[in-house]
Amino acid sequence: MRFDDQTVVITGAAGGLGQAYAVEFARLGARLMLCDLKDCAETAALAQDAGGEALTAKVDVTSTSELESMAARAAEANGRIDVLVNNAAWWGNLKLERFDEVAEELWDATMAVNVKGVWLACRAAARHMKSGEGGSIINIASLAATYGMANVIHYTTSKAAVIGLTRGLARELGRYQVRVNAVAPNIVSTQAAADFFGDKLDAALNATQSQQAIRRPLRTSDVVGAVLWLASDLSRMTTGQTLMVDGGVTFL
Ligand SMILES: NC(=O)c1ccc[n+]([C@@H]2O[C@H](COP(=O)([O-])OP(=O)(O)OC[C@H]3O[C@@H](n4cnc5c(N)ncnc54)[C@H](O)[C@@H]3O)[C@@H](O)[C@H]2O)c1
Repeated sequence: MRFDDQTVVITGAAGGLGQAYAVEFARLGARLMLCDLKDCAETAALAQDAGGEALTAKVDVTSTSELESMAARAAEANGRIDVLVNNAAWWGNLKLERFDEVAEELWDATMAVNVKGVWLACRAAARHMKSGEGGSIINIASLAATYGMANVIHYTTSKAAVIGLTRGLARELGRYQVRVNAVAPNIVSTQAAADFFGDKLDAALNATQSQQAIRRPLRTSDVVGAVLWLASDLSRMTTGQTLMVDGGVTFL
């Protein structure tokens, strides 16, 4: 599997899983556009060490103008965007709380980044895919959506919306050879996972593992593999799907 001469855009690429996707795409020859609210310099350096080219952009995924100028810059190299990974989301900054305790402003802000941000990024990138030879969009959902994670209703709902968006968009963009799929991971021990669960992280990991068919903790590389497959031509007739990377908790 190679991504030579392909332009791959990753949102939320400053650290965590977004950084892991970037390094592997770079190792496989991709030209990267790394975007985040935070500085992506560290990820760009790692991507360059891995053998890829990397541009960075400070982008708020709720901003149409920032996304559109980023997408235009990304497409300059070869006139198109080949892959978009919609990874940016609010979750490390959220906390466990009952559904009737979530502030309305927090609900709205979570939806703005996790749902509207995915739509806007798809819209900005898709025009640079439709005009070329097609492309692959991968939206990062979560096991939270399919399992129905309690005490984080805004996040759970936002990730379920990502699955619906993925399905609808797959039908609209199929005629342009643009595929749209989602990846729904179980808990991976990133900094954001530690921030979200706090001192309940081990309990959450134990609880989910007890429901996994394959009872070991997820590694970053487990999710990276699914994203690479969906980005590559190996999955060329797969669209509209949600690929669970959860060790076998949920079977769709
Ligand atoms: N780590 C897990 O256990 C896990 C499990 C299931 C799904 N996920 C999903 O995987 C993705 C990455 O998770 P992670 O653990 O690496 O978390 P993370 O917090 O490290 O990654 C999210 C990134 O999005 C960025 N971001 C937030 N708001 C933004 C905005 N408005 N515009 C641009 N960038 C913005 C953040 O700065 C951050 O770098 C998220 O979509 C998360 O919901 C993670």
